Amino acid sequence: MVDSEALWREALYGPSGFFTRGEVPADHFRTAALVGPELAEALLVLLERVDFALGRPARLDFVDVGAGGGELSAAVRAGASGSLAERLVVTAVDVGPARSWPGVRWTSELPSSVCGLLVGHEWLDAVPCPVVAGPSSHPWLDRWWPVAEGERAEIGEPRDVAWADAVSRVRGAALAVDYGHVRADRVAGRYAAGTFAAYRGGRRVEPVFDGSCDLTAHVALDACGEAAGGDRVLVSQRDALAALGLVGEVPPVGGAAWLAAAERASRIAELRAEGGLGSFGWLLHGVGVPVSSLLPPLPPWRP
Ligand SMILES: C[S@@+](CC[C@H](N)C(=O)[O-])C[C@H]1O[C@@H](n2cnc3c(N)ncnc32)[C@H](O)[C@@H]1O
Repeated sequence: MVDSEALWREALYGPSGFFTRGEVPADHFRTAALVGPELAEALLVLLERVDFALGRPARLDFVDVGAGGGELSAAVRAGASGSLAERLVVTAVDVGPARSWPGVRWTSELPSSVCGLLVGHEWLDAVPCPVVAGPSSHPWLDRWWPVAEGERAEIGEPRDVAWADAVSRVRGAALAVDYGHVRADRVAGRYAAGTFAAYRGGRRVEPVFDGSCDLTAHVALDACGEAAGGDRVLVSQRDALAALGLVGEVPPVGGAAWLAAAERASRIAELRAEGGLGSFGWLLHGVGVPVSSLLPPLPPWRP
């Protein structure tokens, strides 16, 4: 039987793998981190809430796991201000080549402990996992994604393990942001063809395991949440951003600031678009701090 997880891992993270050799999302697909500074702005609001809930520790971490080109880390570092900025340590974690951004530490391994906010932004979709065709039986499939004859699926267990490990290192909050799905929709057959896909140069291409393209699959964020456990919510990016103050109202036409405000509003609209980035899931864990101190009650995510 073909070991699809091993092939996928080699293609992305082997000696000449897609990410190992330094390919970055900016050259192949658009992530929310690349839209502009607004995602970082919202994460700084969240970080401020984490800081308060932790009692403003002497050192406050922002850890960006699967940092890619490092744009999100750089924007968080650049946007921080006041006492938080003085205590903030920004760490970008990626297995690809280190990038240089002012005030950002770069490492290839997760820190053993994090006091603050750990973010996996489009990290888990890049964690390889087995791709299967039905009928298939596996404890993870039985629990999360029953696969019938002729259907395809991905066994999300490696993502669960990776996320549970990351969350176990944190005091404060851990946030996974990704495209994905929930059990009710998987069981209903909405993803019967599976979600394994490949991208190169901004286009969806036929998946090949030769390191020439990014290989990805939607994330079963509900399973990741259960694996990591504890106090958590799973909400849409659209709702989470609004709850953190990003709504993007365009001011009345006129005035020197109008153009800049209109551009900002259009970036926020992109981040919150239904069916686009706004339909991404935010899986937020409070670790040692109640998640209710970080976000108000919001509808459950249903992409
Ligand atoms: C889809 S990219 C996302 C990049 C960036 N966060 C963004 O949103 O633009 C996924 C990144 O995760 C990194 N990655 C995957 N597994 C990793 C691991 N175990 N530790 C560190 N980085 C990892 C890859 O090298 C890649 O750069």
